[in-house]
Amino acid sequence: MHTQKVLPDTYRDQSDDDLRARIAAVKKTLGERLCILGHYYQRDEVVSFADFEGDSFELAKKGAATKAQSIVFCGVHFMAESSVVLARQGQRVFLPDMTAGCPLADLAEIDQVNEAWRALEAAGLARDVTPITYMNSSAAIKAFCGAREGIVCTSSSSGKAFDWAFARRNRILFLPDENLGRNTAIAAGIADDEILLWDPTLRDGGVTEADVKRARVIVWKGYCHVHTFFTVDQVRAAREKYAGCTVVVHPECEPAVVNAADGSGSTAYLKEAVEAAPAGATIVVGTEINMVARLAKRHPDKQVLPLARSLCPNMFKISLASLCWTLEALGSVNEVSVPPEIARDAKLALDRMLSL
Ligand code: 13P
Ligand code: SF4
Repeated sequence: MHTQKVLPDTYRDQSDDDLRARIAAVKKTLGERLCILGHYYQRDEVVSFADFEGDSFELAKKGAATKAQSIVFCGVHFMAESSVVLARQGQRVFLPDMTAGCPLADLAEIDQVNEAWRALEAAGLARDVTPITYMNSSAAIKAFCGAREGIVCTSSSSGKAFDWAFARRNRILFLPDENLGRNTAIAAGIADDEILLWDPTLRDGGVTEADVKRARVIVWKGYCHVHTFFTVDQVRAAREKYAGCTVVVHPECEPAVVNAADGSGSTAYLKEAVEAAPAGATIVVGTEINMVARLAKRHPDKQVLPLARSLCPNMFKISLASLCWTLEALGSVNEVSVPPEIARDAKLALDRMLSL
């Protein structure tokens, strides 16, 4: 639930040095009672205070495994919600800027998804469909999947989630990212004409009942603007400029971009691809710029370059000032909560992913 409190003015004109000292002081006082999580897409200065750096799912799990009573998630809202769902009893989760949402997650609203499901029920197909949602979705969507024998996946486990789902039922409804859904379906050998796009802004998703009956994978029309920014021309230009380079991209990129690249995978995969490259190699990475810039800094023996400069403005909302405020006012601002019945069903879907 969003509490729309904004950063107090007193935090706006502090110097970075002052903010750093104050954040360090709270960390020292609270010790193990506090855990700060930093997503790969966060700014360097924020990540420098993180107890753990990682992808969204890994961080939610790590936070829950600590003794901390307070978890401060430097990321976006759906990530903090997942952290709440996986948290141990008594742990509280805070997001330094409650307006840091994810436009991709927001493209699947629960009412729209319920409507799509009703259309599947009306066509007599719902019992043959497994709903799968990408981690980048609200807790309500995860709960929707949990309550319907569905599952959550990350960009690294989407292939396994498809196998799991096809072993049970013949069809999949994939939420909310079209590209990850398509890229995973293509990799699973699903033919183009068996992949159907559901556009929630159109009546009946913009499809006919006959279309739905033919489909094996129904993909939701959602996208991440940070990743649809990358193009095949950029991949071509990189190959021309850096002969012999390796291009790796995130699967939220369009299938044509994934196809033009040498490899695709989650943020964890992209990090490993850079780490595994030999010294002197040139690796061109198609994902959020803060992560690529940090990888470049950490691997000075390799040339790590962005495919293009693409920044996630929501991730960028978390700053030293908002982190300092959240820590100094810990417990009274920026707490993320999930209603218990939503948390219970969302956990079902997350636990199924863990068992893959
Ligand atoms: P991860 O699931 O790899 O953390 O990616 C998050 C994200 O926001 C990708 O755009
Ligand atoms: Fe959402 Fe894209 Fe930003 Fe990730 S990079 S948080 S998917 S908008």
